[in-house]
Amino acid sequence: MSTRHFLTLLDLSSEELEQLIQRAIELKRMRREGESYEPMKNRVLGMIFEKSSTRTRVSFEAGMAQFGGSAIFLSSRDTQLGRGEPIEDSARVLSSMVDVVMIRTFAHENVERFAKYSSAPVINALTDDYHPCQLLADVQTYVEHRGSIRGKTVAWIGDGNNMCHSYMNAALRFGFHLNIATPEGYEPKAEMVAQTASNITLMHDPVAAAQDADLIVTDVWASMGQEEESDTRNDVFQNYQVNTALMSHAKKDALFMHCLPAHRGEEVAAEVIDGDQSVVWDEAENRLHAQKALLEFLLQ
Ligand code: CP
Ligand code: NVA
Repeated sequence: MSTRHFLTLLDLSSEELEQLIQRAIELKRMRREGESYEPMKNRVLGMIFEKSSTRTRVSFEAGMAQFGGSAIFLSSRDTQLGRGEPIEDSARVLSSMVDVVMIRTFAHENVERFAKYSSAPVINALTDDYHPCQLLADVQTYVEHRGSIRGKTVAWIGDGNNMCHSYMNAALRFGFHLNIATPEGYEPKAEMVAQTASNITLMHDPVAAAQDADLIVTDVWASMGQEEESDTRNDVFQNYQVNTALMSHAKKDALFMHCLPAHRGEEVAAEVIDGDQSVVWDEAENRLHAQKALLEFLLQ
C-alpha cells in the first residue's frame, strides 16, 4: 500500500476522519483511566520545526512517549535543512531513519515536496496555508461537549488564514456550515473558497456571521511570519474582536474556540476566552489525543 500523508484534512475521507475522532476520544479515556498502551515501541517520529510551537511540539513528543516510542526535535537552526540542504534530499535521508515525520514550516509547497520524496508518512503541523492537526482537536472538542458537528453552523471571525482554510476543509469533510467574517482584503484564498463553496459563506460583518452559530472561532490577527504587519492588522481588525456582545448573537449554548496562543484584548476579549462558553483548554489538551489517533492511523 502506498504511504499515506496528512498534509490537509482532504487527505482523509469523511469516514476516516469520523473514526479518527472517535478513536481520539477512546485514547483520552484510556489515558484518564491509567491504561498503558504502547503500540509504538521502537517507533520514532522526526519533528521538523521552522516556526515556534508550544502545543504542537509537546503533544507530539508526549504522545509518542506515551505510545512507547520516541520523538526527535529538529530545529531549522541546527539542521542542514536550515543551511540549504534540498528538501528532497532531507526527505529521503530522514525518512530512511524514522517511521513518521512531522513538519511545521512556512510555504505549504515545502511539505508537499517533502512528502513526495519521503518513504514515511508526513504530517503537516502547520504551514502558511493549513493547520489540519488543530482541526482534529477542535472537532473532537465539539463532539465531546455537544455531540456530532454535522449540520451545525460554525462562525469563523477574523483573518482568512491557515486556520480558516483548515476550518473550510473541515466544513466539507465533517458536514457543517462555516460563516466566515473577514475584513476586505483578508478573505481566504480563492482556490480554497472554490473547493469548499458548498459549505461556506463569505461575509464582512461579524454579527451576521455569528447569528445563531453553534460555535464561534477566532485566531490571531497576525500569524507567524506576519509580525511586521501587526500594527496595520491591529487597525484593520478592530471590529472583529470576539467579545460578549458578539457572542450574544450566537445560540445560547454556543461554544468558543481558539487554537492558542491568544491575545486577550485583541482578537478575543478576556471575558470570552476565560468565560463559561470557552472550551480552549479542552481544545488544547485534545491536540494530544487527536494526534495520537492520527499517528496510530498513519502507522497501522
Ligand atoms: N495551536 C498551536 O498549534 O499551538 P503551538 O503554536 O503552540 O504549537
Ligand atoms: N494562525 C496562527 C496559528 C498558530 C497556531 C499562525 O500561523 O501563527
